[in-house]
Amino acid sequence: MKYGYFDGDNKEYVITKPNTPAPWANYLGSPEYGAIISNNAGGYSFVKSGANGRIIRYRFNSTPADQPGRYIYIRDREMADYWSASWQPVGKDLSEYESECRHGTAYTAMKSKYKGIETDTLYYVPLDKTYEVWRLKVTNQDERPRKLSLFGYVEFTNDANYEQDTVNLQYTQFISKTYFRENMILQAINEHVSEVGGGASGLSDEAGEGIWRFFGVQGAEVNRYDGDRDIFVGDYRGYQNPASVEQGACTNTLNYNGNSCGALQIDVELAPGETKEIVFLLGAYGEADARQILGRYETLTVVEEELQELKSYWHSKLDRFQVQTPDDNFNQMVNVWNAYQCFITFIWSRAASFQYCGLRNGLGYRDTVQDIQGIMHLEPELARERLTLMLSAQVSNGGGLPLVKFDHRPGHEGTPDDPDYARETGHPFYRADDALWLFPTTIRYLKESGNWAYVDEVIPFSDQGEGTVYEHLRRAIQFSIDRLGEHGMPVGLHADWNDALRLGAHGESLFVAFQLYLALGVYKEIAAHKQDDAQVHWAEQLRAALGDNIQKHAWEGDRFVRGFTEDGYVVGSRENEEASLWLNPQTWSILSGFAEPEQARTAMDLVYEQLNTEYGAMLFYPPFKKFGLPVARMALFNGTTKENAGIFSQPQGWLIQAETMLGRGNRAYQYFTEINPAAMNDKAEIRKIEPYVHGQSIEGIDSPFFGRGHVHWLTGTASTVMVSLAEGIMGVQPTFDGLRLDPCIPSTWSEFSMYREFRSKRLRIKVENPNHVEKGVAKVMLNGEELEGNLLPDDRLRENNDVLVLMG
Ligand code: NOJ
Repeated sequence: MKYGYFDGDNKEYVITKPNTPAPWANYLGSPEYGAIISNNAGGYSFVKSGANGRIIRYRFNSTPADQPGRYIYIRDREMADYWSASWQPVGKDLSEYESECRHGTAYTAMKSKYKGIETDTLYYVPLDKTYEVWRLKVTNQDERPRKLSLFGYVEFTNDANYEQDTVNLQYTQFISKTYFRENMILQAINEHVSEVGGGASGLSDEAGEGIWRFFGVQGAEVNRYDGDRDIFVGDYRGYQNPASVEQGACTNTLNYNGNSCGALQIDVELAPGETKEIVFLLGAYGEADARQILGRYETLTVVEEELQELKSYWHSKLDRFQVQTPDDNFNQMVNVWNAYQCFITFIWSRAASFQYCGLRNGLGYRDTVQDIQGIMHLEPELARERLTLMLSAQVSNGGGLPLVKFDHRPGHEGTPDDPDYARETGHPFYRADDALWLFPTTIRYLKESGNWAYVDEVIPFSDQGEGTVYEHLRRAIQFSIDRLGEHGMPVGLHADWNDALRLGAHGESLFVAFQLYLALGVYKEIAAHKQDDAQVHWAEQLRAALGDNIQKHAWEGDRFVRGFTEDGYVVGSRENEEASLWLNPQTWSILSGFAEPEQARTAMDLVYEQLNTEYGAMLFYPPFKKFGLPVARMALFNGTTKENAGIFSQPQGWLIQAETMLGRGNRAYQYFTEINPAAMNDKAEIRKIEPYVHGQSIEGIDSPFFGRGHVHWLTGTASTVMVSLAEGIMGVQPTFDGLRLDPCIPSTWSEFSMYREFRSKRLRIKVENPNHVEKGVAKVMLNGEELEGNLLPDDRLRENNDVLVLMG
C-alpha cells in the first residue's frame, strides 16, 4: 500500500494518506534548537540536548506513537464542529477530511481541507535560529462567511531533563508555572532560582533565573488562553477532544503545580475566499527575547524569505551530486533523501528521534567517524572539521574514546581506564574497531579534497600529547597491533562493529582483522605518497603477516569465519549449529582488499544463497538461541531481529559495494533495490517506517513481521549505502590525482548521467552502455578529448567539464 510519493523537483516527500503505518518524521533545525516532527505534527523540540534541554513533551513508546506535538485546532463556532490542521490528533473521518503533508529539507508543510475550510501550515526552524515557527494560513473556500476559532497548542515539559519530567513527578509537578502576557504564554521553571538554567544554558530569561519558554502568536490578537494542560484537555479526555476546543473557549487558566501548556485561542471571521495568516512561535526564551522574536514576524513575508533561505541552504548542498538513471527510486535516494539523511546523521548523530531520547551525552566514536563518509562528496570541508574533532578524541595509545562528550576537551579527557571517564560516560572499555574507522574516512577526505597538507596537520590526542594526522593513524594501527590474539589477529575487546559480540581481551575478531588490513593498506598508500619508505615497509610487513594469519586460520573453503572466542570456539564456522555464516566477514574480505578473486566470489555466492532475502541480507544465519552470553549478546534479541541475524541495514551498503568491487552490477543493484526505502513505497504496510529513509534494521525470515523496518533516520546505513551508490554503482571514485569513473551498474541500463562537483570544478558526465555490460570502461572523453584510461586528471579539469564515458 502506498501513502505518498516523491516530488523530486521540490526535493520533498508528499504524504497524501495521513494514516501511515508509523509516524513518518522529519527533522527541523539543528541540535542547537532541534525539532522532530511527524506527518501528523507530533514530536518534540529541545535546546542543545534531547535529554537535558527538552522543551515540549513526547511520550516514548506510547500509542499513538507520535504524541503530543505541535497542534493547531480549528473550531467552527456555528457548527460546533472541530478538527485539526494535521489529520491527528482529532482524526476526522478521511472520507471528509483531505490532507497532504510535505516533508522537505528542514521544513514540513501540511494542508488540510474540511467542510469548506482549507489550512496550510508550515513548520520550520529558521536557519541559525533557536526557536521554531508554525505559519498557519486558513482559507474559507465556502460560499458563506465562516466564524472560526483557531487554537495553537503545545505541551511543555516541566523539567528540561526528559527523565525527570517523565518520572520524578513528586518534584517536577511543583516547579513550573505559566503566565499570559500579551499574545503569549510564558512558562517558568524554578522561577526564582539563579542556579538553575543560567545564562550559558540558553534556557534562562534575561534575569538569568530559572528556565523560560514561550509560545506566542503574531498576526492576530489572542482572545483566550490556557496555560494548564489538564484544564485545556479536560478530565478523561485526550488530544483528540480537548475540553477547551470542544467547548469553544479556553478558560484563561494558568498552571501552578501541574502540567504547563501553551494554548492560544484566536477567533476569526472569514468572508468567502478570504485567507487569514498567523504565525505561532515557540522557543526557550523569557519575555523580552520572545517579544523581539515575535516582532520579527510583524511582516509575515519574513516567513517566505526564511523558507527560501532554508531551501537554498539545503538544496545547494544536495545539488553537488545529482544523478539521472533509469530508476527513479534510485535517483530520489541519491539526489535527495539518502544524501539528506547523511547530513542528518552527521549533524544529529544518534541524539534524538522517536527511538533515541538524547540521553547519550556525546558522539559515539565509530558511528561518528563513519557518518562523516556520507557527506564527503557533498561537503568535504565540513567533513574535515568533524574528522579533526574525532582525531582529537583519539587516546594517545591509539584507541578511540567510545563516547566523545559534547563538551569534549582535547588533551584533557580521561580514558576508558579512568574511573571518572567511565562513570561520566558509562563506557569503561575500549572497542576494538573505533579508531580503525579513521582510515577509510581520512583517505576519502584526502582524495575528495586534494588537501594533502592535512596529513601533516597537528592535532592533540584526547588525553595528552599531540601528533600529525599521519601519527594519529600510525598509533591507531599500533593500538591493534598491541592487542593481537593467539592467531595473530586483533582481539575483539568490548565490541567490534557489532555491539553485541563480546570477544573480550583474548578472543579475536575477523571484522577488525579486515579493518586492520584495510588500515594498513591506506597507511601504506599515504606513506608512499609521503615517500616515507620506512613506514611503507612497516605497513607492508604487518599487512603480509596479518594476511597470512587470516588465510591460514579464517578461511574455511567457502567462507570466512567471524572470530575466535577466548576458549577457542570459532564463531561463524560452517561446523556450527547456529550462526554458521556471517555477512560482514565476507564483504569485508573484499572491501579490505584481502580476498583472492575466487575466494571472494565463492563467499559472496554463499551469502546470496544463504543470507539474502527479498528485503536484504541477514547479518548471519541461523540466529543464536543456545550459544549466548557472554560472547553472543545478540541472543538477547528475538531471532532474525537486530544483531541476532536481523537484516541489519548498515552492512547492506558494504554488501552492495563489495559486489561492485567484484564487477557484479546486477547483484549490487539487486541488493540495493531490496533495501531501497523508495522501492518499498508501495509496500509501506510491510516496511512500516518512512519510505524515504533507511532504518537501523529490518526483521528477517523467522519473524512474523518479515520486512518490517525499525529505528528510523539515525543510522550508519545512510553513509554506507550512500558510499556504495556514489562510489560503487555510479563509480565516481576520487583519487589523489583526480576522479576515476568506473561504474558498476545493472546491465539493463543503457545510459545514465550525473552532475558532480569535485574540488570546485563542475562535471557533467554522460555514461553510455550500448553493450549492456555491468562494469568496464572502454573510452572516456573529457571536454571532447579522449583520455587514456578512466581517470580524469585533476590538472586537466576546467571550471566546467563535459565528460562522456563509454562502457564496454
Ligand atoms: C548500532 C550502533 O549505533 C553501531 O555503533 C553499531 O555498529 C551497530 N548498532 C551494530 O551493532
